[in-house]
Amino acid sequence: MHPMLNIAVRAARNAGEIIRRSSENVGQLTINFKSANDYATEVDRMAEQEIIKVISASFPEHGFLAEESGEQKGNDYTWIIDPLDGTTNFLHGFPVYAVSIALKHKNKLELGVIYDPLRDELFTAERGGGATLNNRKIRVTQQNSLKGALLGTGFPFKSKTNLETYLKMFSSLVGDTAGIRRAGSAALDLAYLASGRLDGFWEIGLLPWDMAAGILLVQEAGGVVTDFSFRDGYMQSGNVIAGSPKMHQLMYKAIEPHVTDNLK
Ligand code: IPD
Ligand code: CA
Ligand code: CA
Repeated sequence: MHPMLNIAVRAARNAGEIIRRSSENVGQLTINFKSANDYATEVDRMAEQEIIKVISASFPEHGFLAEESGEQKGNDYTWIIDPLDGTTNFLHGFPVYAVSIALKHKNKLELGVIYDPLRDELFTAERGGGATLNNRKIRVTQQNSLKGALLGTGFPFKSKTNLETYLKMFSSLVGDTAGIRRAGSAALDLAYLASGRLDGFWEIGLLPWDMAAGILLVQEAGGVVTDFSFRDGYMQSGNVIAGSPKMHQLMYKAIEPHVTDNLK
């Protein structure tokens, strides 16, 4: 294993332990409203501090882009961190949330780790080295039609601007598939796609830390990720379509006619 991956795994497991322990006392947490429908707790912050502490101890010159503490400039390596993806689920005791840590070198994603502390599931990816779930290689499914496919998605709940557009996309897909899941953690959605539990995924308006690790996982598991213009601008736009090559193509075809100019 890449030594940097080793450190990322340690950081993710430590953060996961903080989250798992805190999940037993959610009622006592102080909740901060960041913006409409956007919450953070001291657990988000404690988990993030732990991740940054573990990584900086080994790589003091690296930079960070972390959801709660923002940007910390460093050398050409930047760690992109979502300490708790699925905070709303966490606050409701809905057991779907995870830690997400990615490493970017210049403009390329090099490593991705997603850790589900409740199921003790560790997803990892190394650029050019494949993707794993608990040390076993994972691949996207070979599903080649919408019929029978299980898709994941997220609703654009923070800003209602794109809701109408999103609902059109949803309508185009829902009738042709076996089902669409909105589980509440984009990181886990992408990890589930990489490991064959979902056949495709799309969402509008994600942030870099929601998706960085998951995108590398999908790519390393043989999947395709693009934005709504069939390009790789997803980290800037936050708009993502992901799936096996065939599923990606079918989803793109269904989604593309509804894409408004502001989402291109
Ligand atoms: C959220 C989750 C959710 C997605 C949102 C994200 P958070 O992250 O990934 O699935 O739909 O866009 O903000 O706020 O729980 O870290
Ligand atoms: Ca997130
Ligand atoms: Ca978060």
